[in-house]
Amino acid sequence: MATETKQPAYSPGLAGVVAGETEICWVDPNAGLMYRGYDIHDMAEKASFEEVAYLLLNGELPDFDRLGKFTRDIASERDLPAPVQKMLRLLPRDTHPMDMLRTGVSMLAPFDKDLNDHSHPANIRKAIRLIAKVLTLITDGYRIAHGEEPLPERPDLTLAGNFFYKLSGQVPQSWQIRMLDTIFILYADHEFNASTFAARVTASTLADMYAAVTSACGTLKGPLHGGANEESMKMLDDIKTPDRAEKWMMDALAKKAKIMGFGHRVYKKGDSRVPIMREIGRDLGKRTGKEQWIPICEKLEETMEREKHLCANVDLYAAPVFTMLEFPPELNTPIFAASRVAGWCAHVVEQHDHNRLIRPRSLYTGPQLRPYPGAPSNGSKKR
Ligand code: COA
Repeated sequence: MATETKQPAYSPGLAGVVAGETEICWVDPNAGLMYRGYDIHDMAEKASFEEVAYLLLNGELPDFDRLGKFTRDIASERDLPAPVQKMLRLLPRDTHPMDMLRTGVSMLAPFDKDLNDHSHPANIRKAIRLIAKVLTLITDGYRIAHGEEPLPERPDLTLAGNFFYKLSGQVPQSWQIRMLDTIFILYADHEFNASTFAARVTASTLADMYAAVTSACGTLKGPLHGGANEESMKMLDDIKTPDRAEKWMMDALAKKAKIMGFGHRVYKKGDSRVPIMREIGRDLGKRTGKEQWIPICEKLEETMEREKHLCANVDLYAAPVFTMLEFPPELNTPIFAASRVAGWCAHVVEQHDHNRLIRPRSLYTGPQLRPYPGAPSNGSKKR
Protein backbone atom coordinates (compact mmCIF):
# COMPACT_ATOMS: atom_id res chain seq x y z
CA MET A 1 0.00 0.00 0.00
CA ALA A 2 1.40 3.42 -1.02
CA THR A 3 2.22 5.65 1.96
CA GLU A 4 0.82 9.17 1.76
CA THR A 5 3.39 11.89 2.45
CA LYS A 6 2.11 15.18 3.82
CA GLN A 7 2.95 18.14 1.55
CA PRO A 8 5.03 20.75 3.37
CA ALA A 9 3.52 24.27 3.38
CA TYR A 10 4.34 26.25 0.24
CA SER A 11 4.85 30.02 0.13
CA PRO A 12 5.66 31.52 -3.30
CA GLY A 13 8.89 33.49 -3.15
CA LEU A 14 9.37 32.10 0.40
CA ALA A 15 7.25 35.05 1.58
CA GLY A 16 6.83 34.91 5.32
CA VAL A 17 8.97 31.77 5.63
CA VAL A 18 11.49 31.69 8.49
CA ALA A 19 14.49 30.06 6.82
CA GLY A 20 16.99 30.19 9.67
CA GLU A 21 18.10 31.83 12.89
CA THR A 22 20.44 34.78 13.17
CA GLU A 23 21.86 36.91 15.96
CA ILE A 24 23.11 39.54 13.52
CA CYS A 25 20.18 41.67 12.44
CA TRP A 26 16.47 42.13 12.96
CA VAL A 27 14.16 43.81 10.44
CA ASP A 28 11.02 45.02 12.18
CA PRO A 29 8.13 45.08 9.68
CA ASN A 30 6.93 48.23 11.46
CA ALA A 31 9.87 50.25 10.13
CA GLY A 32 12.64 49.28 12.52
CA LEU A 33 16.11 47.83 12.02
CA MET A 34 18.72 46.73 14.52
CA TYR A 35 22.17 45.23 14.28
CA ARG A 36 23.08 42.94 17.20
CA GLY A 37 20.54 44.73 19.40
CA TYR A 38 21.54 48.30 18.50
CA ASP A 39 19.05 50.53 16.67
CA ILE A 40 20.60 51.69 13.38
CA HIS A 41 19.16 55.14 13.97
CA ASP A 42 21.47 55.52 16.96
CA MET A 43 24.51 54.39 15.01
CA ALA A 44 23.82 55.96 11.62
CA GLU A 45 24.91 59.44 12.54
CA LYS A 46 27.68 58.73 15.03
CA ALA A 47 29.36 55.40 14.29
CA SER A 48 31.95 54.75 11.62
CA PHE A 49 31.34 52.00 9.09
CA GLU A 50 34.37 50.15 10.47
CA GLU A 51 32.76 50.16 13.94
CA VAL A 52 29.52 48.72 12.55
CA ALA A 53 31.38 46.13 10.46
CA TYR A 54 33.24 45.05 13.61
CA LEU A 55 29.93 44.77 15.46
CA LEU A 56 28.32 42.68 12.72
CA LEU A 57 31.29 40.32 12.55
CA ASN A 58 32.11 40.02 16.24
CA GLY A 59 28.80 40.50 18.03
CA GLU A 60 29.89 43.38 20.27
CA LEU A 61 31.02 46.96 19.71
CA PRO A 62 34.81 47.39 19.74
CA ASP A 63 36.59 49.37 22.44
CA PHE A 64 38.96 52.14 21.33
CA ASP A 65 41.99 49.84 20.87
CA ARG A 66 40.08 47.10 19.09
CA LEU A 67 38.50 49.58 16.69
CA GLY A 68 41.90 51.08 15.95
CA LYS A 69 43.38 47.67 15.20
CA PHE A 70 40.39 46.60 13.08
CA THR A 71 40.56 49.85 11.07
CA ARG A 72 44.32 49.44 10.52
CA ASP A 73 43.88 45.76 9.57
CA ILE A 74 41.33 46.70 6.91
CA ALA A 75 43.51 49.55 5.62
CA SER A 76 46.47 47.16 5.27
CA GLU A 77 44.44 44.66 3.22
CA ARG A 78 43.15 47.00 0.52
CA ASP A 79 45.67 46.26 -2.25
CA LEU A 80 44.63 43.78 -4.92
CA PRO A 81 46.95 40.97 -5.99
CA ALA A 82 48.60 42.13 -9.25
CA PRO A 83 46.96 39.38 -11.39
CA VAL A 84 43.52 40.47 -10.17
CA GLN A 85 44.19 44.06 -11.19
CA LYS A 86 45.50 42.72 -14.53
CA MET A 87 42.25 40.77 -14.98
CA LEU A 88 40.27 44.02 -14.57
CA ARG A 89 42.24 45.40 -17.54
CA LEU A 90 41.23 42.40 -19.67
CA LEU A 91 37.49 42.94 -19.28
CA PRO A 92 35.59 44.80 -22.02
CA ARG A 93 35.40 48.52 -21.22
CA ASP A 94 31.60 48.42 -21.05
CA THR A 95 31.49 45.64 -18.45
CA HIS A 96 28.97 46.59 -15.77
CA PRO A 97 30.76 47.37 -12.48
CA MET A 98 28.68 44.70 -10.70
CA ASP A 99 29.94 42.08 -13.16
CA MET A 100 33.48 43.32 -12.61
CA LEU A 101 32.99 43.09 -8.88
CA ARG A 102 31.53 39.58 -9.00
CA THR A 103 34.38 38.39 -11.24
CA GLY A 104 36.95 40.14 -9.05
CA VAL A 105 35.66 38.59 -5.82
CA SER A 106 35.74 35.17 -7.44
CA MET A 107 39.31 35.67 -8.67
CA LEU A 108 40.51 36.85 -5.24
CA ALA A 109 39.69 33.44 -3.74
CA PRO A 110 42.83 31.46 -4.66
CA PHE A 111 45.07 34.30 -3.43
CA ASP A 112 43.77 33.91 0.14
CA LYS A 113 45.81 31.40 2.10
CA ASP A 114 42.87 30.85 4.47
CA LEU A 115 40.48 30.01 1.62
CA ASN A 116 39.47 26.52 2.71
CA ASP A 117 39.76 27.04 6.45
CA HIS A 118 36.20 27.68 7.66
CA SER A 119 37.16 28.07 11.32
CA HIS A 120 35.85 31.17 13.06
CA PRO A 121 39.24 33.00 13.25
CA ALA A 122 40.08 32.22 9.60
CA ASN A 123 36.65 33.39 8.48
CA ILE A 124 37.09 36.68 10.36
CA ARG A 125 40.48 37.18 8.66
CA LYS A 126 38.90 36.57 5.24
CA ALA A 127 36.04 38.92 6.06
CA ILE A 128 38.53 41.72 6.81
CA ARG A 129 40.25 41.11 3.47
CA LEU A 130 36.96 41.04 1.58
CA ILE A 131 35.61 44.21 3.19
CA ALA A 132 38.88 45.96 2.25
CA LYS A 133 39.25 44.59 -1.27
CA VAL A 134 35.66 44.92 -2.47
CA LEU A 135 36.06 48.72 -2.37
CA THR A 136 39.33 48.49 -4.29
CA LEU A 137 37.76 46.26 -6.94
CA ILE A 138 35.08 48.91 -7.43
CA THR A 139 37.37 51.94 -7.56
CA ASP A 140 40.19 50.33 -9.57
CA GLY A 141 37.73 48.65 -11.91
CA TYR A 142 35.95 51.94 -12.53
CA ARG A 143 39.15 53.87 -13.24
CA ILE A 144 40.51 51.15 -15.55
CA ALA A 145 37.22 51.01 -17.48
CA HIS A 146 37.52 54.77 -17.98
CA GLY A 147 41.11 54.65 -19.22
CA GLU A 148 42.62 55.90 -15.96
CA GLU A 149 45.21 54.29 -13.75
CA PRO A 150 44.20 53.06 -10.27
CA LEU A 151 45.43 55.37 -7.53
CA PRO A 152 47.62 54.15 -4.67
CA GLU A 153 45.84 53.41 -1.40
CA ARG A 154 45.69 56.07 1.32
CA PRO A 155 45.92 54.01 4.53
CA ASP A 156 45.42 57.21 6.57
CA LEU A 157 41.85 57.46 5.21
CA THR A 158 38.94 55.34 6.42
CA LEU A 159 37.08 53.06 4.03
CA ALA A 160 34.59 55.82 3.23
CA GLY A 161 37.26 58.50 2.77
CA ASN A 162 39.47 56.24 0.71
CA PHE A 163 36.55 55.34 -1.55
CA PHE A 164 36.05 58.97 -2.58
CA TYR A 165 39.80 59.45 -2.97
CA LYS A 166 40.37 56.33 -5.06
CA LEU A 167 37.58 57.27 -7.46
CA SER A 168 38.36 60.93 -7.99
CA GLY A 169 41.88 61.57 -6.69
CA GLN A 170 40.45 64.21 -4.32
CA VAL A 171 40.56 63.85 -0.55
CA PRO A 172 36.92 64.36 0.47
CA GLN A 173 35.70 66.85 3.03
CA SER A 174 34.77 65.51 6.44
CA TRP A 175 31.02 65.99 5.85
CA GLN A 176 31.27 63.84 2.72
CA ILE A 177 33.01 61.08 4.65
CA ARG A 178 30.36 61.32 7.40
CA MET A 179 27.58 60.97 4.84
CA LEU A 180 29.14 57.96 3.15
CA ASP A 181 29.74 56.33 6.54
CA THR A 182 26.03 56.80 7.32
CA ILE A 183 25.03 55.35 3.94
CA PHE A 184 27.34 52.37 4.43
CA ILE A 185 25.84 51.80 7.91
CA LEU A 186 22.28 51.88 6.53
CA TYR A 187 23.08 49.31 3.85
CA ALA A 188 25.34 47.04 5.94
CA ASP A 189 22.86 44.28 6.75
CA HIS A 190 19.22 43.34 6.39
CA GLU A 191 18.83 39.76 7.70
CA PHE A 192 17.72 37.20 5.09
CA ASN A 193 17.49 39.50 2.04
CA ALA A 194 18.02 37.73 -1.29
CA SER A 195 21.79 38.25 -1.61
CA THR A 196 22.52 37.34 2.01
CA PHE A 197 20.33 34.28 1.68
CA ALA A 198 22.24 33.32 -1.48
CA ALA A 199 25.50 33.71 0.46
CA ARG A 200 24.18 31.53 3.28
CA VAL A 201 22.92 28.83 0.89
CA THR A 202 26.38 28.71 -0.72
CA ALA A 203 28.15 28.70 2.65
CA SER A 204 25.83 25.96 3.91
CA THR A 205 27.38 23.50 1.43
CA LEU A 206 30.68 24.28 3.23
CA ALA A 207 31.85 26.22 0.21
CA ASP A 208 34.23 29.05 1.12
CA MET A 209 33.47 32.68 1.96
CA TYR A 210 34.60 33.94 -1.47
CA ALA A 211 32.19 31.52 -3.18
CA ALA A 212 29.41 32.80 -0.92
CA VAL A 213 30.20 36.47 -1.58
CA THR A 214 30.42 35.76 -5.32
CA SER A 215 26.89 34.29 -5.15
CA ALA A 216 25.77 37.32 -3.17
CA CYS A 217 27.22 39.78 -5.72
CA GLY A 218 25.42 37.97 -8.54
CA THR A 219 22.16 38.11 -6.60
CA LEU A 220 22.48 41.74 -5.57
CA LYS A 221 22.77 42.88 -9.18
CA GLY A 222 19.11 42.24 -10.06
CA PRO A 223 16.77 45.27 -10.20
CA LEU A 224 14.32 43.70 -7.73
CA HIS A 225 17.14 43.81 -5.16
CA GLY A 226 20.30 45.97 -5.19
CA GLY A 227 19.99 46.95 -8.83
CA ALA A 228 16.93 49.03 -7.91
CA ASN A 229 19.09 52.00 -6.86
CA GLU A 230 20.59 52.30 -10.36
CA GLU A 231 17.17 51.90 -11.99
CA SER A 232 15.64 54.50 -9.63
CA MET A 233 18.10 57.10 -10.88
CA LYS A 234 17.10 56.43 -14.49
CA MET A 235 13.49 57.06 -13.43
CA LEU A 236 14.35 60.32 -11.64
CA ASP A 237 16.42 61.49 -14.62
CA ASP A 238 13.41 60.82 -16.82
CA ILE A 239 11.03 62.75 -14.54
CA LYS A 240 13.41 65.73 -14.16
CA THR A 241 11.17 68.11 -12.15
CA PRO A 242 8.77 67.68 -9.19
CA ASP A 243 5.76 68.97 -11.16
CA ARG A 244 6.11 66.04 -13.61
CA ALA A 245 6.32 63.33 -10.92
CA GLU A 246 2.62 62.64 -10.28
CA LYS A 247 1.72 62.28 -13.96
CA TRP A 248 4.78 60.13 -14.58
CA MET A 249 3.73 57.80 -11.77
CA MET A 250 0.09 57.63 -12.89
CA ASP A 251 1.15 56.78 -16.45
CA ALA A 252 3.55 54.10 -15.22
CA LEU A 253 0.92 52.55 -12.94
CA ALA A 254 -1.63 52.56 -15.76
CA LYS A 255 0.86 50.49 -17.75
CA LYS A 256 1.17 48.16 -14.73
CA ALA A 257 4.90 48.91 -14.54
CA LYS A 258 7.01 47.98 -11.51
CA ILE A 259 8.27 51.24 -10.07
CA MET A 260 11.82 50.95 -8.82
CA GLY A 261 12.45 52.12 -5.26
CA PHE A 262 8.96 51.13 -4.09
CA GLY A 263 7.64 48.10 -2.23
CA HIS A 264 9.33 45.70 0.14
CA ARG A 265 8.84 42.08 1.13
CA VAL A 266 9.11 42.77 4.87
CA TYR A 267 8.35 46.44 5.55
CA LYS A 268 4.71 47.29 5.21
CA LYS A 269 4.69 50.54 7.17
CA GLY A 270 7.76 52.15 5.66
CA ASP A 271 11.43 51.28 5.26
CA SER A 272 13.37 52.09 8.45
CA ARG A 273 16.24 53.53 6.41
CA VAL A 274 14.20 55.97 4.31
CA PRO A 275 13.91 58.88 6.80
CA ILE A 276 17.70 59.01 7.29
CA MET A 277 18.45 58.73 3.57
CA ARG A 278 15.81 61.40 2.82
CA GLU A 279 17.44 63.78 5.32
CA ILE A 280 20.87 63.20 3.76
CA GLY A 281 19.28 63.97 0.40
CA ARG A 282 17.78 67.23 1.68
CA ASP A 283 21.10 68.30 3.16
CA LEU A 284 22.92 67.44 -0.07
CA GLY A 285 20.30 69.27 -2.11
CA LYS A 286 21.11 72.48 -0.22
CA ARG A 287 24.86 71.94 -0.38
CA THR A 288 24.90 71.19 -4.13
CA GLY A 289 22.02 73.38 -5.29
CA LYS A 290 20.31 70.29 -6.74
CA GLU A 291 17.15 70.70 -4.75
CA GLN A 292 14.79 69.06 -7.26
CA TRP A 293 15.54 65.41 -6.48
CA ILE A 294 14.05 65.01 -3.01
CA PRO A 295 10.77 66.80 -3.88
CA ILE A 296 10.43 64.48 -6.91
CA CYS A 297 10.85 61.46 -4.63
CA GLU A 298 8.35 62.89 -2.14
CA LYS A 299 5.76 63.48 -4.85
CA LEU A 300 6.26 59.92 -6.10
CA GLU A 301 5.87 58.62 -2.52
CA GLU A 302 2.67 60.60 -2.01
CA THR A 303 1.19 59.35 -5.29
CA MET A 304 2.18 55.72 -4.70
CA GLU A 305 0.75 55.80 -1.17
CA ARG A 306 -2.55 57.21 -2.49
CA GLU A 307 -2.81 54.84 -5.46
CA LYS A 308 -1.39 51.54 -4.18
CA HIS A 309 -0.55 51.96 -0.47
CA LEU A 310 3.03 51.02 -1.22
CA CYS A 311 5.96 52.59 0.61
CA ALA A 312 9.23 53.84 -0.79
CA ASN A 313 12.29 51.77 0.00
CA VAL A 314 15.80 53.01 0.69
CA ASP A 315 16.87 52.69 -2.95
CA LEU A 316 14.55 55.49 -4.05
CA TYR A 317 16.43 58.03 -1.94
CA ALA A 318 19.85 56.41 -2.27
CA ALA A 319 19.78 57.09 -6.01
CA PRO A 320 19.76 60.92 -5.85
CA VAL A 321 22.02 60.89 -2.80
CA PHE A 322 24.71 59.05 -4.77
CA THR A 323 24.21 61.38 -7.72
CA MET A 324 24.62 64.46 -5.53
CA LEU A 325 27.76 62.94 -4.02
CA GLU A 326 28.93 62.78 -7.67
CA PHE A 327 29.11 59.02 -7.92
CA PRO A 328 28.25 57.74 -11.40
CA PRO A 329 24.88 55.88 -11.43
CA GLU A 330 26.41 52.58 -12.54
CA LEU A 331 28.25 52.55 -9.20
CA ASN A 332 25.02 52.77 -7.17
CA THR A 333 24.70 49.01 -6.74
CA PRO A 334 28.44 48.43 -6.20
CA ILE A 335 28.34 51.04 -3.40
CA PHE A 336 25.53 49.00 -1.84
CA ALA A 337 27.77 45.91 -2.20
CA ALA A 338 30.73 47.73 -0.62
CA SER A 339 28.64 48.09 2.50
CA ARG A 340 26.62 44.85 2.43
CA VAL A 341 29.81 42.77 2.14
CA ALA A 342 30.18 43.28 5.89
CA GLY A 343 26.75 41.71 6.44
CA TRP A 344 27.38 38.92 3.92
CA CYS A 345 30.62 37.98 5.66
CA ALA A 346 29.02 38.11 9.12
CA HIS A 347 26.29 35.73 7.89
CA VAL A 348 28.85 33.36 6.36
CA VAL A 349 30.72 33.28 9.68
CA GLU A 350 27.46 32.54 11.51
CA GLN A 351 26.43 29.90 8.95
CA HIS A 352 29.77 28.07 9.16
CA ASP A 353 29.79 28.29 12.96
CA HIS A 354 26.38 26.54 13.20
CA ASN A 355 26.07 24.87 9.85
CA ARG A 356 23.22 22.84 8.48
CA LEU A 357 22.81 22.41 4.72
CA ILE A 358 20.06 24.68 3.37
CA ARG A 359 18.07 22.50 1.04
CA PRO A 360 14.32 23.12 0.77
CA ARG A 361 11.82 21.08 -1.24
CA SER A 362 9.88 22.17 -4.32
CA LEU A 363 6.26 21.52 -5.20
CA TYR A 364 6.24 19.34 -8.31
CA THR A 365 3.70 20.61 -10.87
CA GLY A 366 4.88 18.64 -13.92
CA PRO A 367 3.17 15.71 -15.65
CA GLN A 368 2.24 12.58 -13.70
CA LEU A 369 4.39 9.49 -14.16
CA ARG A 370 4.02 8.25 -17.75
CA PRO A 371 5.61 5.51 -19.82
CA TYR A 372 8.82 6.34 -21.67
CA PRO A 373 8.24 5.60 -25.37
CA GLY A 374 11.93 5.01 -26.19
CA ALA A 375 14.29 7.28 -28.12
CA PRO A 376 13.74 7.57 -31.89
CA SER A 377 16.32 5.51 -33.80
CA ASN A 378 18.80 7.36 -36.06
CA GLY A 379 17.18 8.74 -39.21
CA SER A 380 13.71 7.58 -38.14
CA LYS A 381 10.98 10.21 -38.49
CA LYS A 382 8.34 8.24 -36.59
CA ARG A 383 8.30 7.51 -32.88
N1 COA B 1 5.66 49.05 -8.33
C1 COA B 1 4.39 48.74 -8.65
N2 COA B 1 3.69 47.78 -8.03
C2 COA B 1 4.30 47.11 -7.07
C3 COA B 1 5.61 47.38 -6.68
C4 COA B 1 6.28 48.40 -7.35
N3 COA B 1 7.54 48.71 -7.04
N4 COA B 1 5.96 46.56 -5.68
C5 COA B 1 4.93 45.78 -5.45
N5 COA B 1 3.91 46.11 -6.28
C6 COA B 1 2.59 45.53 -6.34
C7 COA B 1 2.64 44.16 -6.99
O1 COA B 1 2.50 44.25 -8.38
C8 COA B 1 1.49 43.48 -6.32
O2 COA B 1 0.31 43.95 -6.90
P1 COA B 1 -0.91 42.96 -7.18
O3 COA B 1 -1.29 42.41 -5.84
O4 COA B 1 -1.93 43.84 -7.82
O5 COA B 1 -0.36 41.90 -8.08
C9 COA B 1 1.53 44.02 -4.91
O6 COA B 1 2.17 45.28 -5.00
C10 COA B 1 2.32 43.13 -3.96
O7 COA B 1 3.62 43.04 -4.41
P2 COA B 1 4.48 41.72 -4.41
O8 COA B 1 5.00 41.49 -5.79
O9 COA B 1 3.76 40.61 -3.72
O10 COA B 1 5.68 42.11 -3.51
P3 COA B 1 6.93 41.21 -3.27
O11 COA B 1 7.11 41.12 -1.80
O12 COA B 1 6.88 39.93 -4.01
O13 COA B 1 8.10 42.07 -3.95
C11 COA B 1 9.67 43.74 -4.28
C12 COA B 1 8.87 42.98 -3.25
C13 COA B 1 10.67 44.61 -3.53
C14 COA B 1 10.45 42.77 -5.18
C15 COA B 1 8.73 44.60 -5.14
O14 COA B 1 8.06 45.51 -4.31
C16 COA B 1 9.45 45.31 -6.25
O15 COA B 1 9.63 44.74 -7.33
N6 COA B 1 9.89 46.59 -6.03
C17 COA B 1 10.63 47.32 -7.02
C18 COA B 1 12.10 46.97 -6.97
C19 COA B 1 12.77 47.54 -5.76
O16 COA B 1 12.63 48.71 -5.44
N7 COA B 1 13.57 46.70 -5.11
C20 COA B 1 14.33 47.08 -3.95
C21 COA B 1 13.77 46.46 -2.73
S1 COA B 1 14.59 47.06 -1.28
